[in-house]
Amino acid sequence: MQSLLLLLFLCLQSFSFLASAIDQFTFDGFAGGNLNLDGTAVVTPDGLLMLTNGTTLLKGHAFYPSRLRFHQAPSGGGGGSYPVRSFSTAFVFGIISEYTDLSSPGLAFVVAKSRDFSTALQSQYMGLANARNNGNASNHFLAVELDTIVNAEFGDMSDNHVGIDVDGLASVTADNAGYYDDRTGAFRNMSLLNRTAAQVWVDFDARASLVNVTMAPLELPKPKTPLLSATVNLSAVIEDEAYVGFSSSTGVVASRHYVLAWSFKMDDGPAPPLNISKLPALPVTIARAPSNTLKILLPIASAASAAALAITVFMIHRRRRKYAELKEEWEVAFGPHRFSYKDLFHATNGFSDERLLGFGGFGSVYKGVLPMSGADIAVKKVSHESRQGMKEFIAEVVSIGQLRHRNLVQLLGYSRRKGELLLVYDYMPNGSLDKFLYDQNRPVLSWSQRFRIIRGVAASILYLHEDWEMVVLHRDIKASNVLVDAEMNGRLGDFGLARLYDHGTDPHTTHVVGTTGYLAPELGHTGKPSKASDVFAFGVFMLEVACGRRPVSQDALQAHGDHLLLVDTVLERWCQGTVTDAVDPRLHGDFPEEEASLVLKLCLLCSHPLPSARPGARQVVQFLDRDMPLPELSRAHLSFNMPALT
Ligand SMILES: Nc1ncnc2c1ncn2[C@@H]1O[C@H](COP(=O)(O)OP(=O)(O)OP(=O)(O)O)[C@@H](O)[C@H]1O
Ligand SMILES: *[C@@H]1O[C@H](CO)[C@@H](O)[C@H](O)[C@H]1NC(C)=O
Ligand SMILES: *[C@@H]1O[C@H](CO)[C@@H](O)[C@H](O)[C@H]1NC(C)=O
Ligand SMILES: *[C@@H]1O[C@H](CO)[C@@H](O)[C@H](O)[C@H]1NC(C)=O
Ligand SMILES: *[C@@H]1O[C@H](CO)[C@@H](O)[C@H](O)[C@H]1NC(C)=O
Ligand SMILES: *[C@@H]1O[C@H](CO)[C@@H](O)[C@H](O)[C@H]1NC(C)=O
Ligand SMILES: *[C@@H]1O[C@H](CO)[C@@H](O)[C@H](O)[C@H]1NC(C)=O
Ligand SMILES: *[C@@H]1O[C@H](CO)[C@@H](O)[C@H](O)[C@H]1NC(C)=O
Ligand SMILES: *[C@@H]1O[C@H](CO)[C@@H](O)[C@H](O)[C@H]1NC(C)=O
Repeated sequence: MQSLLLLLFLCLQSFSFLASAIDQFTFDGFAGGNLNLDGTAVVTPDGLLMLTNGTTLLKGHAFYPSRLRFHQAPSGGGGGSYPVRSFSTAFVFGIISEYTDLSSPGLAFVVAKSRDFSTALQSQYMGLANARNNGNASNHFLAVELDTIVNAEFGDMSDNHVGIDVDGLASVTADNAGYYDDRTGAFRNMSLLNRTAAQVWVDFDARASLVNVTMAPLELPKPKTPLLSATVNLSAVIEDEAYVGFSSSTGVVASRHYVLAWSFKMDDGPAPPLNISKLPALPVTIARAPSNTLKILLPIASAASAAALAITVFMIHRRRRKYAELKEEWEVAFGPHRFSYKDLFHATNGFSDERLLGFGGFGSVYKGVLPMSGADIAVKKVSHESRQGMKEFIAEVVSIGQLRHRNLVQLLGYSRRKGELLLVYDYMPNGSLDKFLYDQNRPVLSWSQRFRIIRGVAASILYLHEDWEMVVLHRDIKASNVLVDAEMNGRLGDFGLARLYDHGTDPHTTHVVGTTGYLAPELGHTGKPSKASDVFAFGVFMLEVACGRRPVSQDALQAHGDHLLLVDTVLERWCQGTVTDAVDPRLHGDFPEEEASLVLKLCLLCSHPLPSARPGARQVVQFLDRDMPLPELSRAHLSFNMPALT
C-alpha cells in the first residue's frame, strides 16, 4: 500500500514536472508567436514586440505564456526546496523616443513569480513596482533594466545605464550602457536612445549565484567580458516556478520600447543564438514581407501550374490590399481634397526608410514627390483606429486646408485607409525648428533669424485665432511643430491635428492633448483648450527659441524627479535683473539687449499661470512690433509658484 502511494506520488511529481518542462524557446521576431500581453504591449504585424506605443504615462508587459520551473526537479522523494537552476537569455531591443537625448524610463527583462503587475506604476517604476512595495522582498522579481532616465530616488547613475534589480528599482549593480571590446579590453559606450537595435544577454550561474549582463551592437558577437556581474541569491527571489518576459513604461516623453527577438534556455550553456538577419526592422515601416503566406502556399502547390496560379492569386490579392483605401459615402463631398493612397505610396517610394523625415507623437512623416506636378510634399501617416469622429475630423482637415497664411505649413489634402490617416503637406526643405536649436550639426541661428521666426509664428497664431472665419486653436504649439522654409521663415504646422485625439476618448480620463512643458496649468483642471492655452504654449516656445533650451530640462529630473521648467529659470533671472543672461549662450552675447529683454518678458507674460493675465495673439504681435509698449511687470505680478507637472 505504502509503495503504491509512493508510486502515485512520484507519478504526480513527474507530471507536474512535465507540465512546465519547457526549458528553451527562441523568437526571431514575434510574428505568430504566442505571448501573454497586457497594457500597451502589442505585437505589430511585422513581428515587433512593442511594449509601449508612444503614449505617455502608460505601461506594458509581455510574458512567455507558461511558467518555467526555476528549481531543479526532485531527484527522489524528499521535501524542502530544490536548488535553483542556471539560465541564459538573449534579446534584441530598440527604443524610439521623441528625442534622441531624452526619453521615458526604459524597459526591463523580468523573471517574476507573478505576471500580475496591475498595481505597479508607470514612469520611473517601469511597470514593476509602486512607491509602497518598491524593494519589498514579497515582490519576488529579478529584472535587468535598460534605463534612460536618472531617478535620484533609486540612485540611478546616468540617463543611459543598465542595472540588475531585485524586488525593486534601486539596482543591485549598474553601469553605463556599453561593452568591453574583446580585442583591446577597452570599454565602448553605447547609447540606448540612438534608435538602433542592440543585443543583451543575461546569464545566471546557479553554482556561483552570479548574474552576468552583457550588451553589444547587433553586428558584434557576444563580448567575453560582461558589462555587469552581481551576486544574487536567486533561490530567495524565485520560488520554484516563475514567468519570464519584459516590462516597460513611459513617463512624460512619448517613447516606444521594442523587443525584436528573444531566446531563453534553462540550465547551463548559452541561450540559443538569435538570427539577426531575420529580425523585423526597427521601427515599423511598410509591411514589406509577404513571404509568410508565400511560404505556406508554395509547398502545397505540387504542380508548377498550381504554384503559378497560387502566386497570381496571391499577387492580385496583395496588390489589392497594398493600395486598399477606406472611402465612405460622406467623403464624396471632400473629393477634391482626397489623394489616392496609391499616388502617395508611389510619391514616397513606398513609404521607404530613405524617405522618412522623422517621427512625432502622431506618426511618421515621409518626403514625397507628387507624380503629376512634381511638387515636393511631406506625408504624415497617422495611425487611427477609432472611426468615431473621423468624419468631423476630415471635415475639419478640409476646412483647415483652406487656411492660407505665409507662416502656416500648407495642408494640401488627405488620404485614408484602414486604421490609417495620411495628411499631405507642403514640404519644408529646412525641416523643423527644434533641429536648428538642438542639432549640433546645424549652424547656430542668429538672434535676427530667431526673432523673425518668433514674429512669423506669432502672426500665424493671430491668423488662426482671429483673422479667419472661425477660431482655430492649434493646441500643440512647440518648436518641433514649427518648420523652417527656404527663406528661413517660421511656419506653424500640425494645426488642429491634436483635435483627432479628443474624439472618442473616454470622458472620465482627463486626457489632455499637447506636449509636456507647453501645457497651460489650467488644462490640468479643465482639460479645455483655449486661445489662452495656445498663448501659454507660444510663450514657452519663445523661451525655447531665445534660450536654445528645452522647456523641461533633463538635469532637473535628477532632483527628486521634479521637473525644472525653463520658465522658472528665466523668472529667477528676471527677478535678479539679469534676464538677458538666459539668452542662448551660443550667440556669445551677439544680440540687441532691448529686443531680447522684450522677448523674454513677453514670454513670462504669455506663460503666466492665470489665463486672464495672458495677452491675446493680437497684442503679442503688437508688442513684438513695438506698436504697443509692454506693460511694466511687477514682481508681485509674476511672483507665483509654477504649479508642478503631473
Ligand atoms: N512639412 C514638412 N516638411 C518637412 N519636414 C517635415 C514636415 N512635417 C514634418 N516634418 C519632419 O518630420 C518630423 C516629425 O514631424 P511631426 O510633426 O510628426 O512630429 P513632432 O512635431 O515632433 O510631434 P507631434 O506629432 O507631437 O506634433 C519633424 O520633426 C520634421 O523634421
Ligand atoms: C496605446 O495603448 C493604449 C492602451 O492600450 C491606448 O489607449 C492608446 O490609444 C494607444 N495609443 C496609440 C497611439 O496607439
Ligand atoms: C512587504 O509586503 C508585505 C505583503 O504585501 C507586507 O505585509 C509588508 O508589510 C511589506 N513590508 C514592508 C517593509 O513594507
Ligand atoms: C561613456 O559615457 C559616460 C557617461 O556619459 C562618460 O562618463 C564616459 O566618459 C564615457 N566613456 C567613453 C570611453 O567615452
Ligand atoms: C548607435 O550606437 C551603436 C553602438 O554604440 C552604433 O553602432 C551605431 O552606429 C549608432 N547608430 C547611430 C544611428 O548613431
Ligand atoms: C560571468 O562573468 C564572469 C566574469 O566576470 C565569468 O567568469 C563567468 O564565467 C560568467 N558567468 C556566466 C554564466 O557567463
Ligand atoms: C539563499 O536564500 C535561501 C532561501 O531564502 C536561503 O535558505 C539560503 O541560505 C540563501 N543562500 C545564501 C548563500 O545566502
Ligand atoms: C537566418 O535567417 C536567414 C533568413 O531567413 C536564413 O537564410 C539563414 O539561414 C538563417 N541563419 C541561421 C544560422 O539560422
Ligand atoms: C534652408 O534652405 C535653403 C533652400 O533649400 C538653403 O539654401 C539654405 O542653406 C537652408 N538653410 C540652412 C541653414 O539649412
